[in-house]
Amino acid sequence: MKKTISTALACMSALGLPGILQAESADAALQKTLTASFRAEGQAGMDRLVQDEANRLCSQADASGKTVRDEDAAHIRQSSFKTIAWPTDGQFFGDFKLGEKLAQDGRGKTWSDKPGSENGGNCYNCHQISQSEISYGTLGPSLYNYGKLRGVSDINSATAKPIVEYTWGKLWNPRAFNACSSMPRFGHNSLLTQAQLKHLMSLLLDPQSPVNQ
Ligand code: HEC
Repeated sequence: MKKTISTALACMSALGLPGILQAESADAALQKTLTASFRAEGQAGMDRLVQDEANRLCSQADASGKTVRDEDAAHIRQSSFKTIAWPTDGQFFGDFKLGEKLAQDGRGKTWSDKPGSENGGNCYNCHQISQSEISYGTLGPSLYNYGKLRGVSDINSATAKPIVEYTWGKLWNPRAFNACSSMPRFGHNSLLTQAQLKHLMSLLLDPQSPVNQ
């Protein structure tokens, strides 16, 4: 029986039958299954299943096997850019050693974590960063030599300013530059504090950081 259903579905998609309708009902069915099988526990409430506009537009496009429409992508980028909060004291940098610790640390936000406690950045799950860490994911590009490759020799110089601002904005809300980015929105979703983001900025951009050796 199962086989018949999946064969029928495979034929439908092979024939290109209303792809979007199919994706929308598949999406609704998925939401129903998720809602039925998740339960709220600790800080992990049912609100975790609610998609915001950007998530919804990107996952609907993805489910129908398409990239998001140009106008939706532009809208997501623009509205995401507006969410970026710049450092309140005008300082973009902290301590790269603490940045490395945060990049290594994937803790936080699970039902058993204390609500309000600081989270890790989980960066190595998706990126190569310092060369000494050989265990990393490859969903995102390598960030080894991030500052060096972009010619940053003095983080406080006027020439470094555009890359400094881009990197801060990217960490705050990656969708400001890439509408359907799969990178977490660390600042926008209050996953990391401004102080933590500054440590990560130093890790990526400081010429003294192991990343740029
Ligand atoms: C779930 C995977 C994931 C995690 C976790 C993640 N990233 Fe990313 N990141 C990506 C992907 C995918 C890209 C490339 C697509 C894009 O630009 O959005 C990216 C791009 C970037 C870029 C831009 C690179 C460029 O050349 O423009 C920077 C900087 C970055 N990530 C830093 C970090 C830092 C720092 C952390 C940890 C705080 C982190 N990322 C955590 C997936 C991730």
